[in-house]
Amino acid sequence: MEKREQLYEGKAKKVYSTDDPELLIVSYKDDATAFNGLKKGTIAGKGAINNRMTNNIMRRLEEAGVPTHYVEELSDRETVVKKVSIVPLEVIIRNISAGSFAKRYGVDEGIVFDEPTIEFSYKNDDLGDPLINDYHAVALKLATWEEIELIKKYAFKVNDLLKGFMKEIGIDLVDFKLEFGKTSDGTIILADEISPDTCRFWDEKTHEKLDKDRFRRDLGGAEDAYQEVMRRLMGE
Ligand code: TMP
Repeated sequence: MEKREQLYEGKAKKVYSTDDPELLIVSYKDDATAFNGLKKGTIAGKGAINNRMTNNIMRRLEEAGVPTHYVEELSDRETVVKKVSIVPLEVIIRNISAGSFAKRYGVDEGIVFDEPTIEFSYKNDDLGDPLINDYHAVALKLATWEEIELIKKYAFKVNDLLKGFMKEIGIDLVDFKLEFGKTSDGTIILADEISPDTCRFWDEKTHEKLDKDRFRRDLGGAEDAYQEVMRRLMGE
């Protein structure tokens, strides 16, 4: 499978067409941004780590019954995925208060919830990805009720599974963001990535942050944190 033309360049990945109209190649970059692109930098080695970690997790989710876009890892940075049209909703699950939740409601980070929460943001950079509810998403025809129900079901299932995968390696899954897409026949599948860019991971004992918050908050040590999660997850 080879890259044809570049279709899209996002903040963290490039997307290429292939000779199969149903398949794309994604290429992960080391570029890091935060606050809707206002803060820019690089995290050395991040592209390869996020690619390989995402694929490892997607394969395990697929085995557990969550349909994903993953097809085949081509190299450290490149993966073949199914072509989808992305549902323009960022689906956020939280197990522990942090980030925008703590800020919005004026509470500390680190409150462990009795049950996970779900929320959606409208994926629209011009508007700064505003919070949106399901009625508004349906009104704007971003998704149907059936699609939203399926997305919620898959998102909570990913949470149960991913929480387990991370617990095995001594990491608490604080929160994360998922994106879903629709294949040409209308099937909803999990797309995008699952990595320290899109999840909050805290060491279960020290509560050290092992994710992109090290970059967002200028804590230093982002490279080492990404490496550490990779080492624990994949034994390297
Ligand atoms: P938040 O607390 O800033 O709303 O972030 C919730 C989760 O979503 C966190 O794990 C980081 C992830 N996230 C992204 O993947 N992309 C984004 O653009 C933002 C703002 C958050």
